[in-house]
Amino acid sequence: MISTTWLLLAASLCTTAVATATPQKITLTSRVAPVGKSLKKRQLSATNVPLADFFLGTDLQWFGNISVGTPPQDISVVFDTGSSSLEFASTLCTTCPQTKFDSSKSSTFVDTGRVSQISFSTGVGVDPVTADNSYVLRLRSGTDTVTVGGLKSTNVALNLITSQTPTFNIDPFSGIQGMGARAQGFFASLINQGLPSLFGMFLTPNAIGNAELTIGGIDESKFDNEIMFAPQAGTGNAWELRSPGISINGKTTSLLNTPRTIIFDSGTSNVLFSTDTTEAIYAMISPDIQPNPQEPGTYGIACSRIPSLKSVIDISFTGQNGVPFNLTIPSSELSVGPFKSNPSLCQTLINAFDGLELVGGSLLKHYYSVWDVGNQRMGFAAI
Ligand SMILES: *[C@@H]1O[C@H](CO)[C@@H](O)[C@H](O)[C@H]1NC(C)=O
Ligand SMILES: *[C@@H]1O[C@H](CO)[C@@H](O)[C@H](O)[C@H]1NC(C)=O
Repeated sequence: MISTTWLLLAASLCTTAVATATPQKITLTSRVAPVGKSLKKRQLSATNVPLADFFLGTDLQWFGNISVGTPPQDISVVFDTGSSSLEFASTLCTTCPQTKFDSSKSSTFVDTGRVSQISFSTGVGVDPVTADNSYVLRLRSGTDTVTVGGLKSTNVALNLITSQTPTFNIDPFSGIQGMGARAQGFFASLINQGLPSLFGMFLTPNAIGNAELTIGGIDESKFDNEIMFAPQAGTGNAWELRSPGISINGKTTSLLNTPRTIIFDSGTSNVLFSTDTTEAIYAMISPDIQPNPQEPGTYGIACSRIPSLKSVIDISFTGQNGVPFNLTIPSSELSVGPFKSNPSLCQTLINAFDGLELVGGSLLKHYYSVWDVGNQRMGFAAI
């Protein structure tokens, strides 16, 4: 999910200069370890968090449990690489239908009392991107102990949801755990405790199941292919890579074969491209894919036509070693299901939104993905 506050932050960090690494001489002195204490910081090892798939005819979101407070209360969250903070439903929210956190029952909860509002441009589904405050959470800040996959962090900054727009009511999970490209919250704390600073995501389709987040490592048992790594394009919280071009069914156009920066967002299910890119792609798949004026930004085609359309989308990238590779969205992703307003019209994968180029679950579920915070790179292995 892409939050508005997060986008502003990303933009303001873009000007940060990158320091050039110069070799440094470090003088080493030996120290005597105090009796009974280990000199070496204890290393934490990687842990797996099973994820459930929110499936409504199409895979929408993957979410898993964290526990918050003392004694721990289980809260389900989307691990969202498109945002950077932690927020979840609380008993302060009278209209939230989800499982709620009760801060009065946690002896370690501290109310830090900052009231804020966060707007998301996208929700859980395949709906068009909105700039009209359709997805708004009102929040109250606090800190508490957070445990993820059995690994505990204390005094983690978090936000209690005090009210939410009804657009969030269908969500089967209680909150969002931001997993942006700069470690924050529980993840930053675990890295300080010695956990390697990367995570792996296995966002499988509903039919396959066993989706999983690995914090602090890569679960090699989930894939056989080589991982292709590419360097992060930005210096902010967004996970983004430079792409030299996009091809449809092996063909491209001058507009599509133009470099662009693409955001990778595990919290969005479909694909967002600028209007000209969206229309250039659809023109190569079928002239019958047309905007649906009832839901601006979406496109569709008669559901009966879907099986006959071939629509392999190759997005090219350059690996760290200079070797090109493609990330491919197969034909099976073209339809995200019938529009509610017109069930014989099927919504197609890409929504148009100027100013954002973003891929989500419909691409990520075909790869094991590695989000390497420490080395500022992303990796993909076909599954
Ligand atoms: C989260 O925990 C609840 C019990 O508190 C359990 O029923 C559910 O299956 C868990 N979800 C996942 C994805 O592990
Ligand atoms: C990427 O896809 C394009 C279009 O299908 C193809 O021409 C190119 O060879 C592919 N590149 C790699 C490295 O597979």
